[in-house]
Amino acid sequence: VTDEKHLPDRVGLLGAGVIGGGWAARFLLAGVDVCLYDPAPGAGDGVLAALHRARRAWDRLALARRPPEGHLTLAGSVAEAVAGTELVQESAPEREALKAELLAQASAAAPPDAIIASSTSGLLPSRLARSMTRPERFVVGHPFNPVYLLPLVEVCGSPQTAPETVARAAAIYRAAGMRPLVVRHEIDGFIADRLLEALWREALWLVADDVATVEEIDDAIRFGAGLRWAAMGTFLTYRLAGGEAGMRHFMAQFGPALQLPWTRLTEVPALEPALLDKLVVQSDAQAAGRSIAELEQLRDDCLVAVLSGLRGQGFGAGETVAETERRWLSVAADAAVVPDAGAPSGGLLCLHEAIVASEWIDYNGHMTEYRYLQVLADTTDAFLARIGADGDYVSAGHSYYTVESHLRHTGQAHAGDRLYVTTRMLGHDARRLHLFHELHRSEDETLVATGEHMLVHVDAAAGSAAPAGAAVLGELAQIATAQAGLPAPTGVGRRIEGERLAPGVVPT
Ligand SMILES: NC(=O)c1ccc[n+]([C@@H]2O[C@H](COP(=O)([O-])OP(=O)(O)OC[C@H]3O[C@@H](n4cnc5c(N)ncnc54)[C@H](O)[C@@H]3O)[C@@H](O)[C@H]2O)c1
Repeated sequence: VTDEKHLPDRVGLLGAGVIGGGWAARFLLAGVDVCLYDPAPGAGDGVLAALHRARRAWDRLALARRPPEGHLTLAGSVAEAVAGTELVQESAPEREALKAELLAQASAAAPPDAIIASSTSGLLPSRLARSMTRPERFVVGHPFNPVYLLPLVEVCGSPQTAPETVARAAAIYRAAGMRPLVVRHEIDGFIADRLLEALWREALWLVADDVATVEEIDDAIRFGAGLRWAAMGTFLTYRLAGGEAGMRHFMAQFGPALQLPWTRLTEVPALEPALLDKLVVQSDAQAAGRSIAELEQLRDDCLVAVLSGLRGQGFGAGETVAETERRWLSVAADAAVVPDAGAPSGGLLCLHEAIVASEWIDYNGHMTEYRYLQVLADTTDAFLARIGADGDYVSAGHSYYTVESHLRHTGQAHAGDRLYVTTRMLGHDARRLHLFHELHRSEDETLVATGEHMLVHVDAAAGSAAPAGAAVLGELAQIATAQAGLPAPTGVGRRIEGERLAPGVVPT
């Protein structure tokens, strides 16, 4: 069962504020239709703004083409929003009575097997589900802002929730590119907000006691612990603080300090006008006149940078991004059409698109050299997925290895350029595959690079060349027929030319 199987055709969203708008963007980008109800006039505008931000972020982040987006519909009632959906996601204001009433209405109107989920930050699932029809399909799906970019979603049922509901909800969220974390025990605040609240309470005390300003407190996080948290969280980080002696040593060394204690624990500063004024004044100074829209864009760009970096490490949230890319790549491969032989496009394949990310740029302001090979290699992967030599094929012990590549640089790419790659198969036999990719800049159709690659089919266990499977060879034969009429591209079979330079001779 692939993840796509878990993606519903359509979801119903209740509430379209910060979180509801984020959910809408997350699902629309995953290709899911969204039907949304929010009684506030103009609620749709916020959703479109979130969608715009989400597209911008993912165009920079993903190396694979985004799948076709779902359709957005604004509903006039709860019943209309939830009709015919597999998942209802409620993101109304954090008021228990309002949510319980809304969930009861939604559960009565939705299909009987639809999952009914709430985005609540910390209200108990059993209290929210108390008036619901069939509460066994209720679950909390607690996301993080911005929902379209941050992978985490805490999934927490009540004692009445069926285990199957939790599993289905988690599978849907995962297929939408998220990282579900199942919270196994119903508890106020779940896991993440309990941790965040402890930090937040202490931060407010530091401001209330004039120990630090809001900006100094943020600096204490973002220049230090925040960077570690993004990769390793708290426990793995502290394990390293214990050195080779590990966790036991760490606890022996720093455990006693917990008794001091340094923090104010559950005591809460009185949220009186003086404290609120101080927070607002300091927060305004910190924002330095930048609008929320500007700060949201800054936040998203920084998150994209961090996620890109983590993807390079194949670690933490980077792994979730890579999973989304693999999914999008396979959707693109399935959608790629091989037109009939003789059709005007002559069977040229277009399997891969990329946006040049800022971290792909070198000191000259151009795309750095190895990124060209990366884009071409991603295209080869898309080609292999297209002919059925995909992840399952590799797991079964077969694979194509690239044995030779020849790159020609015919133009330059800059940050933000949209690139697409066309592919011809120059030849194939049972064991070999000869590909020619042309990398174009979409904006002006400039050819910026070509890549000619020879691949050999191998039996991974035997460690030697072996004939490809019959299904793969059948796909290759079809592509060969479709591309038979194409003229040979310029630059095929080239080697480095020009006057031969003698080694060691320094030109005068
Ligand atoms: N903001 C966050 O960072 C965050 C993070 C995770 C979870 N949450 C949770 O998500 C939920 C929504 O929070 P938010 O920040 O998006 O709030 P918000 O105030 O931005 O949005 C709430 C939306 O619900 C709409 N609404 C009010 N009554 C409604 C009704 N009867 N039916 C449908 N819609 C209705 C409002 O018009 C508004 O657009 C809350 O439960 C909150 O705890 C928030």
